[in-house]
Amino acid sequence: MFPSCCLALLALVPLTLGTNPGVKVQLTQQGLEYGRKIGIAALQQKLKTIQIPDISGTEKVFPIGKVKYSLTGMTIVNLGLPKSDLALVPNTGIRLAIGNAFINLHGNWHIRYHIIKDSGSFDLAVTALTITDTITIQSDETGRPAVSSVNCGASVGSTSIKFHGGASWLYNLFTSYIDKALRSALQKQICPLVADTIKTLNLHLKTLNVLAKVDKYAEIEYSMVTLPSISKSSIDLSLKGEFYNIGKHQEPPFSPIAFSLPPQVKNMLYVGVSAFTANSAGFVYNNAGVLSLNITDDMIPSSSPLRLNTRTFGVFIPEIAKRFPGLMMKLLVKTVKAPSLSFQPNNVTVQASGTVTASVIHPNGTLSPLFILNLEASVSARLYVTELKLAGQITMDNFEMTLGTSYVGPFQVQPLDNIFLMVLKDVVIPMVNVCLQKGFPLPAIGNMNLINTELQILKDYMLIGTDVNFT
Ligand SMILES: *[C@@H]1O[C@H](CO)[C@@H](O)[C@H](O)[C@H]1NC(C)=O
Ligand SMILES: *[C@@H]1O[C@H](CO)[C@@H](O)[C@H](O)[C@H]1NC(C)=O
Ligand SMILES: *[C@@H]1O[C@H](CO)[C@@H](O)[C@H](O)[C@H]1NC(C)=O
Repeated sequence: MFPSCCLALLALVPLTLGTNPGVKVQLTQQGLEYGRKIGIAALQQKLKTIQIPDISGTEKVFPIGKVKYSLTGMTIVNLGLPKSDLALVPNTGIRLAIGNAFINLHGNWHIRYHIIKDSGSFDLAVTALTITDTITIQSDETGRPAVSSVNCGASVGSTSIKFHGGASWLYNLFTSYIDKALRSALQKQICPLVADTIKTLNLHLKTLNVLAKVDKYAEIEYSMVTLPSISKSSIDLSLKGEFYNIGKHQEPPFSPIAFSLPPQVKNMLYVGVSAFTANSAGFVYNNAGVLSLNITDDMIPSSSPLRLNTRTFGVFIPEIAKRFPGLMMKLLVKTVKAPSLSFQPNNVTVQASGTVTASVIHPNGTLSPLFILNLEASVSARLYVTELKLAGQITMDNFEMTLGTSYVGPFQVQPLDNIFLMVLKDVVIPMVNVCLQKGFPLPAIGNMNLINTELQILKDYMLIGTDVNFT
């Protein structure tokens, strides 16, 4: 199996009209060039399977008379595609042009006339072979790109033969047969083999993770939402880029905003991930009810003098110490709506709204709620690419708490800020970061590795520039 290719990444297709993509992928000239190298190597192997059929017959040759001849065992000993080019044809596809290709073959000749038998071998060279083709990119029924070959043409420049053994009159006899057989075999076989090689790319394209599983709650859809757009300098794919709850594809109350990747040149491939994609993740996890966390005293760093018990809280809310002396407490922190992320140049900010419910733990294990606070938090995120995943790390910017419900009488919330700052910074954020470190799969095809990867935060989207290789 040859390891596929960027060509593969190119493609795409079809189309839920009117849907803006959440993710855009741009394959540059450099990516195309990498694809060309891999594709040409694959084509070269394929063309070596060309079979030249044996030729035999009887011919009258003056003054000898009837001569039976056969040319057998013609095999390719060398085949080169020294010059090839892939060019983007805007709105159409990719034009493949191969020139100066050559094939060297070796075969055997046999003749019989009267009672004489003779045989020898010959070497054959085909030069100035050209192959042209146009590769178009469609979408298959799963929203993955699929390529196909249209307008393939092959032409043989010249052939030359060198015989070993035999008399010189033989040369004239064979030369025209060989030339004809060769041209016909090559013309018949080259384009189907080119089409086959291009089809092989589809096997790789089929590995595009159009539905990428993230964890037990979420998956990301990466199918194409529009036809690929082919310009002079790049192939641009529009992918859905939307998180869904596994098995339950519910649309969020917001939709992707149109964004475009400016033409890039440094790397082979660029992936733009919009704030929509990130926010669809927030929507999904909030719906799954997993953006919540129970915090108990054993999770608080042992070095902290502030403990989750009624003694610590009783300092600020005497009613707690009075009614529940010497008991441990538990906090439930959860979001009340999907967190919202925004991309500004060099700046990723996430706003989260939630509640903190504080309860006392009775000796028999049951809980009594003490109070519920409303929490508004703003965090900064640093995003990075690790292997084929996008991962992140957040730090606290600021937070604000107000009293929601109290079961222990009125109290001032502000004095509790230090306790909650410690809880958020030392417990909640590290736990969120453990999850964010696991990362979310980026669109990728099988055996693909990213190298020289860079990530920048721009207005409304982040841009990953990368080179790729295939193992
Ligand atoms: C938190 O604890 C409560 C009460 O023990 C439990 O019902 C809830 O499922 C827990 N939530 C999480 C996220 O662990
Ligand atoms: C980042 O963006 C947020 C919201 O747009 C803004 O409040 C904050 O000041 C910005 N931070 C930096 C370092 O630019
Ligand atoms: C647990 O203890 C509390 C406080 O003493 C009490 O109010 C509650 O009824 C007890 N619950 C059970 C199930 O025993």
